[in-house]
Amino acid sequence: MELTQAAFDDLRRSIHRLCGIVLNDDKEYLIRHRLEPVAARCGCHNFDEFCAKLAGGEAARLQEAIVEAITTHETAFFRDQHPFDALRQQILPDLVRNRRKESNRTRRPIRLWCAGAATGQEPYSLAVLIHELAGASRADGPQPDDFSILATDVSATALATAKTGAYQQREIERGLTASQIHKYFELCGDRWVARPMLRKLMEFRRVNLIQPFSSLGAFDLILCRNVLIYFDEATRRKICDQFHAMLPEGGWLLLGSAENLYGVSDRFLSVRFGKTLVYRKQSSPEIDDSS
Ligand SMILES: C[S@@+](CC[C@H](N)C(=O)[O-])C[C@H]1O[C@@H](n2cnc3c(N)ncnc32)[C@H](O)[C@@H]1O
Repeated sequence: MELTQAAFDDLRRSIHRLCGIVLNDDKEYLIRHRLEPVAARCGCHNFDEFCAKLAGGEAARLQEAIVEAITTHETAFFRDQHPFDALRQQILPDLVRNRRKESNRTRRPIRLWCAGAATGQEPYSLAVLIHELAGASRADGPQPDDFSILATDVSATALATAKTGAYQQREIERGLTASQIHKYFELCGDRWVARPMLRKLMEFRRVNLIQPFSSLGAFDLILCRNVLIYFDEATRRKICDQFHAMLPEGGWLLLGSAENLYGVSDRFLSVRFGKTLVYRKQSSPEIDDSS
């Protein structure tokens, strides 16, 4: 299907406006590969026709289809493993310790947010981790009910899979051990479905990170892994400023293994646990009112 320079520019501008994804000059193949089926489905013979449709009465439906096609939902359970070791050994116990210092009256669940959760493997990994942590501690230690997990994504189809919590054999085997699979999932037909013990910790919502999202409330830990790589620096900065505002002092931000806040934010403290770099919201400097 023919893709003129004008149509390429038009489409990448639309994509940036719709979901923040930046497509450089060398990403023509991506437009062709991902959007050609969308254009063909709506009866277009070339991308100029598709752009004309996009500017017309079908805009809303086509925009949805573009976001679905252009977002990459690659993920796995316990992806990269080492960040989950840091969560298990350092970050979740730290959050539990801090929460225990609060009085019973004011104590609220520890809120975790997976921003850009794709098909759900990341938030379900967190839920498994929480159960394992609770199982390994004393009766008066952390309980699964002490936690809540919000999983969000801009892609409605990815989020629908996450909500269903149903995975094929090859998906479930990517990152989970045989004993984790049997303990936390049950086989229904040809899918492994997350058991209620995981699902009751979780909530799913469609959230586009390029729109304001601070109304989601405060979180103790935000995971935004392998999402910011798709955005430009200005978009990353806007998103990370909101993350900063939503975390309490001492709250944690975890990015993907190849991502960092260099040039984006200097408001977080970087903390290294082995191979994992984590960001922590610093305490505000003490106000000197002696003068
Ligand atoms: C590569 S996946 C990462 C999944 C998971 N966090 C992980 O690391 O395994 C990137 C996800 O970011 C989502 N995404 C892309 N742009 C987004 C936006 N503007 N708002 C919210 N999610 C977005 C995509 O739909 C996709 O599911």
